[in-house]
Amino acid sequence: MDSTKNLVILTHFPVLRTKNLSVSRSGNQILSDVNLTINSGEFVGIVGPNGSGKSTLLLTILGVLKSSKGTVEIYGKTTPTREVYEKISWVSQAAANLPKEIRITVRELVQLGTVKLSNLLFETDRQRRQNLVDNAIKIVGLESVQNVSIGRLSGGQRQRAVIARALATDAELILLDEPLVGIDRETRNDFLKLLDDLAHNQGKTIIMISHDLAAIRQTAHRIIYLEESIRFDGIPSDFPNLQELAILRGIKDVHGGHHPIIGECCDENEIKESE
Ligand SMILES: Nc1ncnc2c1ncn2[C@@H]1O[C@H](COP(=O)(O)OP(=O)(O)OP(=O)(O)O)[C@@H](O)[C@H]1O
Ligand SMILES: [Mg+2]
Repeated sequence: MDSTKNLVILTHFPVLRTKNLSVSRSGNQILSDVNLTINSGEFVGIVGPNGSGKSTLLLTILGVLKSSKGTVEIYGKTTPTREVYEKISWVSQAAANLPKEIRITVRELVQLGTVKLSNLLFETDRQRRQNLVDNAIKIVGLESVQNVSIGRLSGGQRQRAVIARALATDAELILLDEPLVGIDRETRNDFLKLLDDLAHNQGKTIIMISHDLAAIRQTAHRIIYLEESIRFDGIPSDFPNLQELAILRGIKDVHGGHHPIIGECCDENEIKESE
């Protein structure tokens, strides 16, 4: 048997490039001169306090918000084509907060991720859609509840169903805005392992916003600290400690009671856990 048959060779190339990207919303400058290159197969965690522009950056990458200066290049295109957008999947902040009254099963929700392919009526494409759905449900471990209504799932299961829908799009670039909120520790660890596997072994590019600094430190390949501009971009082991972060933010007195990073950005226990 040919032992190289199942070997997938992943070559890495720039998926996203921003150059001097600046964005204003309602007349306020939210992002200033963001310069970023993310390659295929990278799992990047974006952290920063509330209101620091993290979701704004994702919405600009998605083309929903326009830049006031600079450029966004996705898969080498500054004006992305439909094919480029079809390579992107986005899970919005609080996406799992689906109204309980929605009577839709896990499988139906995940199938919605493949809807863009539905205009292709060939049998092989229908089969391909089923395969994508089966695979996505399996990856997130919801096979046993795939025909259960979403309203009857736990918060963690709902979160996984939303992720499965994103995976079923067969996207190459997956943007996740706070996917860890409301999920229990065990589900969180499985989910992070899954993201690591998607990036490492399947060459997917993952950009995940999270306030869970401990989780990001332990699993992302690279951390970006964003606060209007990029204040840190590097590997998790080089990520600054709290005092260094305060200096990055131009804060001199870090002992005066309320800590700006803990207070605004992160769960104190989780920071302590990772220190
Ligand atoms: N629709 C809008 N119009 C005007 N300003 C907005 C709008 N949405 C957000 N902003 C402002 O833009 C800034 C950045 O918001 P953004 O949602 O990108 O922050 P974030 O880092 O994602 O915060 P969080 O951690 O709370 O999700 C904030 O000051 C916010 O008030
Ligand atoms: Mg946000």
